[in-house]
Amino acid sequence: MNTKKLIEAAFAARERAYSPYSGFSVGAALLTKSGRIYTGCNIESVSFTPTCCAERVAFFKAVSEGERDFEAIAVVGGKTNDSAFGICPPCGVCRQVMAEFCGEDFKIILVDSMDNESIYTLNELLPMSFKNEI
Ligand code: THU
Repeated sequence: MNTKKLIEAAFAARERAYSPYSGFSVGAALLTKSGRIYTGCNIESVSFTPTCCAERVAFFKAVSEGERDFEAIAVVGGKTNDSAFGICPPCGVCRQVMAEFCGEDFKIILVDSMDNESIYTLNELLPMSFKNEI
């Protein structure tokens, strides 16, 4: 896995965030098992509810292009006009979307503004996820 390339793609995607209401910009880069990268940024709405997180934008772009096998996602986010920020862990809704398409060993790479990365598995961030199994 080329972590550096994935992280660079997440930073580039963050530049395209549409986040005038929160002032918080997020970029995500999703790596398929076949080596393709799909990016996403958060996209907000004046009526708030339609807002979509960067991670889900990346997933929905990829799935709508026929992708189903994913290896990792890099996420970078912080206040739009601040150059220094910490890691941006995915929200619960995005974690549930990840669980829909990914196994427990799917990697979530969280990156701060200094390029420090910390890597978690989906199982670490969403243990005991709902699976609709009886
Ligand atoms: N946001 C993301 O895009 N990803 C996350 O993991 C957390 C939050 C977005 C949603 C909203 O546009 C802004 O960040 C502030 O919550």
